[in-house]
Amino acid sequence: MHSLGFSWFKKCLVQKTSKILLTKVSWSLVTMISIINLHLLRHYISISKIMRLVAYQKYAFYIRKFGSTKKIKNLLQNRQELKKGRTVLTSFPYKVTFDPSSLCNLQCKGCHTGIKHPEMIKPQVLKFSDFKIMFDKIKDYVFSVSLYNWGEPLLNKDIFKMIAYATENNVGTTMHSNFNFFNEEMAEKLVRSGLTHLYLSIDGASQDTYSIYRINGDYNKVLKNVELLVRKKKELKKKFPIVTWKFLTFDHNRHELNLAKEKSRLLGVNDFETFEANPVLMDIRDEAKKYSENPRLFDNLSEKCSSLWSSIYVGPDGTLFPCSLAFRKEESFGNLLTSDFKDIWNNKSYINSRKLFTEPINLSNVPIPCSTCKYFLRCKNKGR
Ligand SMILES: C[S@@+](CC[C@H](N)C(=O)[O-])C[C@H]1O[C@@H](n2cnc3c(N)ncnc32)[C@H](O)[C@@H]1O
Ligand code: SF4
Repeated sequence: MHSLGFSWFKKCLVQKTSKILLTKVSWSLVTMISIINLHLLRHYISISKIMRLVAYQKYAFYIRKFGSTKKIKNLLQNRQELKKGRTVLTSFPYKVTFDPSSLCNLQCKGCHTGIKHPEMIKPQVLKFSDFKIMFDKIKDYVFSVSLYNWGEPLLNKDIFKMIAYATENNVGTTMHSNFNFFNEEMAEKLVRSGLTHLYLSIDGASQDTYSIYRINGDYNKVLKNVELLVRKKKELKKKFPIVTWKFLTFDHNRHELNLAKEKSRLLGVNDFETFEANPVLMDIRDEAKKYSENPRLFDNLSEKCSSLWSSIYVGPDGTLFPCSLAFRKEESFGNLLTSDFKDIWNNKSYINSRKLFTEPINLSNVPIPCSTCKYFLRCKNKGR
């Protein structure tokens, strides 16, 4: 019995040791291969391409959760039309942004809503009845809608009805908020609405640092609101919304990054993300200027502006923009509230802007905002 026990013990020990050794060897191999791959990757794939891969990964979640045969067929067709450089599209955009409010309670210096830019369309909120009309025009093709753009979405009292309507229609929802305006009743409505992902713009770990950019913002109130939301999710036993603390990095707040990350962990938010902020106004023209001053930036730009194929951005009055950074009336390509979507999607503005990337075109035919954008500048530099 004793010798049997010993030999069994020896066998186990040998097996266990070899297992540990094998695991150690395989982990070292995996690490080595990963390091070599990363080096190779750095040669062949730019950082922007890696970022795009990460974004696709995130999008895959929405495809799995809110996909249908019709949506997936449209997505594949859309990618083909982009690849082939079609300028008249049969597919629909699969990324749609509605701006529930172009009003805001803060005055961030890099945001034209915050500085009350004189060329902005009159600040207003999106009516629920108008949202429904526009949402119904695109709902069969989108996996998720973004419910924010150039203002504070929580200032629209109907925001929860909009989210719930999207949820009922099997469409995911994403929202970004400064989270200064929030209370118990709103927390209940928000969690019950089915919002998929909420990004909270909190760029600091103290009132002094936070309010350098978020002018009028109350840091302690924001943290209390985060606490309230996390508690409400627990009370109602809901997994959604996924909550991400989004920290815009500026020179004035980098030193508080780790502290903010720790606070986010203690508060129980799901995720913490950083994003290199635009220190000047977020405007297509300013961005193009940044590229012309530093032409190396063009190396990270993809071949085509995929937004012209994949996405639309809709203001509270139905004004449709081709780009997330556009906001002037003159930069609009149509109105989704008053027009048939297909008539806008293949109108002259869209076709001429897409042609910029697919065939030689008289550059004077390219409408704004595309004619003031970094992609346009790159085409001009290449002599197209
Ligand atoms: C214009 S805001 C509207 C939503 C909401 N009011 C907010 O601030 O989160 C949309 C997104 O732009 C981000 N943002 C604001 N200023 C920025 C800047 N200067 N550079 C880059 N992103 C910025 C916000 O953090 C947010 O994620
Ligand atoms: S909180 Fe958001 S919308 Fe408001 S001014 Fe700041 S960035 Fe702009």
